[in-house]
Amino acid sequence: MLLQAVFLLLLRCLASTLGQYELCKSLVSTDEGSVWEQYACQPKTASMKDHMRIKVDPPGITCGNPPERFCTLENPYLCSDECDASNPDLAHPPQLMQDRERNGLITYWQTVTWRRHPEPLLANISMAWNKSLELTDDIQITFEYGRPTIMVMDKSMDHGRSWQPYQFYADDCMDAFNMPPKRVRDLSPANITRVICTEQYSRWVGSKNDKNVKFEVRARFAVFAGPRLQNMDSLYTRMESMKGLRDFFTFTNLRLRLLRPALGGTYVQRDNLLKYFYAISNIEVPARCKCNLHASQCLLQDGNLQCQCEHNTTGQDCQRCRKGFKAKSWKAGSYLPTPHGTPNTCTPHLSHNFLGKCNCNQMGSVHDRCNGTGFCQCKDGATGAKCDDCLPGYYWKQGCYANVCDEEMLLCQNGGTCYQSQKCICPPEFKGVLCQESRCEAGKDCNAASSLHLSTATLLLCTLLAHLLATLTPH
Ligand SMILES: *[C@@H]1O[C@H](CO)[C@@H](O)[C@H](O)[C@H]1NC(C)=O
Ligand SMILES: *[C@@H]1O[C@H](CO)[C@@H](O)[C@H](O)[C@H]1NC(C)=O
Ligand SMILES: *[C@@H]1O[C@H](CO)[C@@H](O)[C@H](O)[C@H]1NC(C)=O
Ligand SMILES: *[C@@H]1O[C@H](CO)[C@@H](O)[C@H](O)[C@H]1NC(C)=O
Ligand SMILES: *[C@@H]1O[C@H](CO)[C@@H](O)[C@H](O)[C@H]1NC(C)=O
Repeated sequence: MLLQAVFLLLLRCLASTLGQYELCKSLVSTDEGSVWEQYACQPKTASMKDHMRIKVDPPGITCGNPPERFCTLENPYLCSDECDASNPDLAHPPQLMQDRERNGLITYWQTVTWRRHPEPLLANISMAWNKSLELTDDIQITFEYGRPTIMVMDKSMDHGRSWQPYQFYADDCMDAFNMPPKRVRDLSPANITRVICTEQYSRWVGSKNDKNVKFEVRARFAVFAGPRLQNMDSLYTRMESMKGLRDFFTFTNLRLRLLRPALGGTYVQRDNLLKYFYAISNIEVPARCKCNLHASQCLLQDGNLQCQCEHNTTGQDCQRCRKGFKAKSWKAGSYLPTPHGTPNTCTPHLSHNFLGKCNCNQMGSVHDRCNGTGFCQCKDGATGAKCDDCLPGYYWKQGCYANVCDEEMLLCQNGGTCYQSQKCICPPEFKGVLCQESRCEAGKDCNAASSLHLSTATLLLCTLLAHLLATLTPH
C-alpha cells in the first residue's frame, strides 16, 4: 500500500517537473482509494505544414504554362533556366512549398516573371487548416532567389470569413505602408500584440545570405519568459490575465500577400524583367491544436485535425460540454495555478428529486410542492422550471450560493485563479478571499524568492521520494 502511494506520488512529481500541461489526468491515492485527478492539458507542438491546404492566387500565377525562361538576380544575363509545368523536372507547383526536401535537393514553388511591369506582380498564398491552432514558435518562410521587398502576412481566426493583418514587411515601411519601422524587440509587455511593420526581412542581402522571412513568436514569448524562455510560468500567467494575448497567437488560416519581388538593387531594370519573380521552397508553421486546455492529443480524423477532448467536453476545439452536461458550465481550462492548472470540467445535469407529483429540486426550491398553477418556487439564486439551475452570479453546490469569485466583478488578484466560482486559488505569496493580501511582511521583497523556492522544494521532494521508493522496493 505504502509502496504504491509513494510510487504514485513520484509519478506526479515527474509530471510536474517534466513537460507542462501534457497530462489531462492521473490516478492518485487518497484515504478513500484511488481517484483520477484532472489537470489542464494541451497537445504537443507539431509541424503544421504537413496538414495545411495551400492555394495560390491569381490563377495562372504559377510559372510554366506556357513554358517560360527566367534568369536570376545573381546571373541576370544568363537566362537559360526554364520553368515548364508539363515537365516534372522543370515544374514548380505550389505543393513544393510544403514538401520535405530530400537528399539536400531544394524544390520550390515559382511564379511567372514580371514581364508585365509596370503592372505590379502580385500573388496570394492562402493556407487553411480547418482547425484553430496556436503558434508555439516562429513562422518561417524560405524564399529562393531573394525575399520580397513588400509583403503582408494576414491571419483569420474564423476559417477565412474575416481577415486581419498579422505583420507588414517592407524594405521601406514608411514608403510602402506609411508605418514607422519596428522590431519585435522594441515591443513592451503592454503592446506585445501590436501589429508592426518590419524592415528586417526585406532588405537586399544577396539571395543566398538570408533566405528567411519570419513571424517572430519566440521573441514575443521572451518578453515574458526571459531570453531563453526559462520562465514559462510567467508566460502562462500572462496568457490568463492579459486579454487578447492568447488570441494573438491563434489562427485557423494564414495568407501571404506578395506585393513586390526582390529587386537586387534600388530600381527595376526594365530591360531585364525575367529576373524578377517569387520562389518559395518552404513554409514552416510550428503550432499546437487549440483545445481550450481540455485535450493532450490532437489527431487527424477524416482528413481534419480534431482535439481528443477530456473533462467531459466535446467539439473540434473542445469548445462545449458533452451531451448530458450543463452547456453553461463550459469554460476553458486555466494555466493557473501552475504547474497543473485548473481543468474546469463540465458539470452534469442534476438528477431531479421527486417532490409531491412536481419534481421541484429539493435543494433549489422553497417548498416540498409546487404552487397552485404547477410552478416550483425557487430559493434565492436558483432558477429553472425545477429550480435546479443557478442565476448568473451563483454557483451550484447542493443549492445555489453567491459566487466568491468570477471572471467579471470578483476577480482573483495577484495571479490567483478562480476555482469553480467557489474560491480563489492563490499563489503561495498571497492569501485572502481574492488573494488580495501579501503573505510577506511589509517592506520585504519576497515575491521572486518564494516561487524559486517552490520549484526547488518540488525537485527536492521528488528526489527524496525516488530514494524512498528505491529503499522500499523489495530486492
Ligand atoms: C489577395 O487577397 C486580397 C484580400 O482578399 C485581395 O484583395 C487581392 O485582390 C488578392 N490578390 C490577388 C493577386 O489575388
Ligand atoms: C472542417 O472540420 C469539420 C470538423 O472536423 C468538418 O465537419 C468539416 O467537414 C471540415 N470541412 C472541410 C472543408 O474539410
Ligand atoms: C511599445 O511600448 C514601448 C515602451 O512603452 C515603446 O517604446 C514602443 O515604441 C512601443 N511600440 C509600439 C509598436 O508602439
Ligand atoms: C465525465 O462524466 C462521467 C459520467 O458522468 C464521469 O464518470 C467522469 O468522471 C466525468 N469526467 C470528469 C473529468 O469530470
Ligand atoms: C406560481 O408561481 C408562478 C411563477 O413564480 C407565478 O407566476 C404564479 O402566479 C404562481 N401561482 C400561484 C397560484 O401562486
